[in-house]
Amino acid sequence: MNTYEGPQETFHRRHLVTPYAKKVMKMKCNTCHQGENPREEAPIPPDQKNTDFTLRKQVNPETCLMCHGSFPDYKRMGLPSHWNESRDMFQDNCLVCHAGIRTNRHKVNFLNPEAIEAAAQGNADVCFGCHGGRQWYRISYPYPRHPWPGMAKEVPDWAKDRPTESPERFRIHEQEAKK
Ligand code: HEC
Ligand code: HEC
Ligand code: HEC
Ligand code: HEC
Repeated sequence: MNTYEGPQETFHRRHLVTPYAKKVMKMKCNTCHQGENPREEAPIPPDQKNTDFTLRKQVNPETCLMCHGSFPDYKRMGLPSHWNESRDMFQDNCLVCHAGIRTNRHKVNFLNPEAIEAAAQGNADVCFGCHGGRQWYRISYPYPRHPWPGMAKEVPDWAKDRPTESPERFRIHEQEAKK
């Protein structure tokens, strides 16, 4: 996997400044830390009823799951087994299928979609890296299912409760796009 270059790095540096991180991602502090307003202070003494307050340090592990979950259900992909066993049958290339399936991907404010696609040419480990290769969880993230050109009208049962857009805080808004 073309990752973990160089010496041991801190957790924060691995996500923000290492060469690989900078290439494929553009995370900000508040991609992970959702309570980022420096003027807010934790209520003292702690107030059980104040459920709206997010500690600045707090990080929702769902965020990590997006890139550190297990490989998604291989049966839904039409694969005979987990990628670890079936990769050779598909020339070790996710794009054999994903050049035409779920092509509307990674257009969020913390990733570099073009750089990801470019790096993944001839190297499925780029894709697998964030979709099973750096797995810290036993489950897989339920990704939004963005419509793509040529998709079937029929929504499969497993996808009926899936959103069709990324969570609001990750969407690219007009102003940001112009920067
Ligand atoms: C990849 C997700 C992620 C990003 C991006 C991120 N952090 Fe963190 N940060 C964490 C996690 C996880 C912890 C540990 C939280 C805990 O202990 O509850 C943490 C802890 C911290 C702490 C507490 C001190 C410590 O080391 O335990 C500070 C301060 C902090 N982060 C600041 C920042 C700042 C400033 C940025 C942007 C430059 C940033 N973080 C970006 C995930 C992230
Ligand atoms: C947008 C995708 C993404 C998200 C979200 C993300 N990571 Fe990562 N993580 C990566 C990538 C890519 C690397 C490898 C970076 C490199 O090679 O320098 C990595 C590396 C790591 C490492 C290995 C660090 C090392 O030095 O060995 C740990 C641990 C980790 N992530 C945990 C987390 C946790 C915990 C969270 C949530 C707070 C998180 N990640 C969120 C993509 C992500
Ligand atoms: C045999 C064709 C095929 C191959 C090879 C393949 N996929 Fe898929 N993949 C699919 C299909 C089909 C779907 C489901 C499409 C849909 O939403 O209806 C899918 C869905 C996904 C999803 C979304 C899962 C979810 O729960 O929403 C991810 C992420 C994904 N694939 C990543 C990969 C990665 C990474 C690789 C290579 C390591 C890969 N795929 C290889 C066909 C394939
Ligand atoms: C740096 C981490 C990273 C890399 C590299 C990566 N992905 Fe993803 N992928 C994600 C994240 C995060 C999401 C969810 C983003 C969102 O909310 O829309 C996602 C979403 C997806 C989806 C769901 C698309 C949809 O319908 O919204 C598919 C399919 C997918 N990735 C396939 C791939 C393939 C194929 C590659 C290689 C070309 C790849 N990924 C490389 C992190 C990554």
